[in-house]
Amino acid sequence: MNIRKIGVIGAGIMGSGIAQVAAQAGFKVILRDINQDLVDHGLAKIRNNLEKDKSKGKRTEEGIKSILNNLEGTVNISDLTSCHYAIEAAVEKISIKKEIFRELDKACGPETFFATNTSGLSVTEIAGVTGRPHKFIGMHFFNPVPVMKLVELVKGAKTDANTVKTTTTLIKDFGKEAIFVEEAPLFAVNRILVPMLNEAMFVLMEGIASAEDIDKGMHLGANHPIGPLALSDMVGLDTLLFVMDTLYEETRDSKYRPCPLLRKMVRAGNLGKKTGQGFYNYS
Ligand code: CAA
Ligand code: NAD
Repeated sequence: MNIRKIGVIGAGIMGSGIAQVAAQAGFKVILRDINQDLVDHGLAKIRNNLEKDKSKGKRTEEGIKSILNNLEGTVNISDLTSCHYAIEAAVEKISIKKEIFRELDKACGPETFFATNTSGLSVTEIAGVTGRPHKFIGMHFFNPVPVMKLVELVKGAKTDANTVKTTTTLIKDFGKEAIFVEEAPLFAVNRILVPMLNEAMFVLMEGIASAEDIDKGMHLGANHPIGPLALSDMVGLDTLLFVMDTLYEETRDSKYRPCPLLRKMVRAGNLGKKTGQGFYNYS
């Protein structure tokens, strides 16, 4: 099938980034969230990114207009009916993702492909609520989406070869590179990265070093572009807790227990950059 129109569900950190790269690549994109403010916020973030590119001489006004012309927002899942491909980037809770795909399965024609941007939940389990598990795949982007080159492609138990092929082509069209991983809790990259972020929180909680020195240490001593606590704030502490909980619950291995400090911060609503307060203050 010739993919021309893409639905993106969730207009937060990841959904807005995915919508941006798809619109930049010339696809028609419809971005959906649960209320108009959230949709508008996602679209405004894209406009802001494009304006920043223009100020660096990387885009023209005409270029921006043509990208924005490819984008529309909605709160109605029924507006995604004519999409050839739907990519879900809503909150990392399996019950919410299943509900979204039940609705999408009813709204979209049988030829539409489905992907989830989950950070580590079971692709097979989510696909199982649809009548098209063969047309369902994990398409795991990295934050910030307009910058990070990688997408992990995760096959569910019933994902067919045509879905892998179509999705691989789409990833290339987005200007990204794919790696192929088998389904497993957190896939490949997050299985390695997220326990490291969790460990940095233990180092902080145990009073071994300050947040600034932990981040400076990993930046200067391990050449990470930013330290693990600043990165955690960028990802979102609620998302990281969902992801650590998945790893722990799926493996029951105590080495993957979420850091209590992470849970405490999420309970306090200090979710990182998106709320203005995490390990650092962003106000
Ligand atoms: N959206 C769009 N562009 C952004 C951006 C954003 N949110 N943040 C930064 N950029 C762009 C900047 O505009 C800048 O662009 P130019 O090169 O055109 O000037 C470029 O990125 C570099 O930015 P900065 O100079 O401001 O800062 P930096 O050099 O520290 O780079 C960074 C920022 C790219 C985020 C870098 O710090 C980095 O690579 N950090 C690590 C990111 C990472 O590990 N991501 C994975 C998170 S885990 C995940 O995504 C999986 C999951 O399931 C949780
Ligand atoms: P976010 O909190 O920034 O945004 C989530 C959005 O989903 C919110 O705007 C919320 O209103 C919306 N939403 C909730 N229920 C919805 C529904 N029924 N229909 C449409 N939208 C709905 O979260 P995020 O960081 O963008 O994460 C989204 C997904 O991407 C999660 O599965 C997460 O694990 C994954 N992910 C996140 C990162 C990251 O670094 N933040 C990286 C890779 C993958």
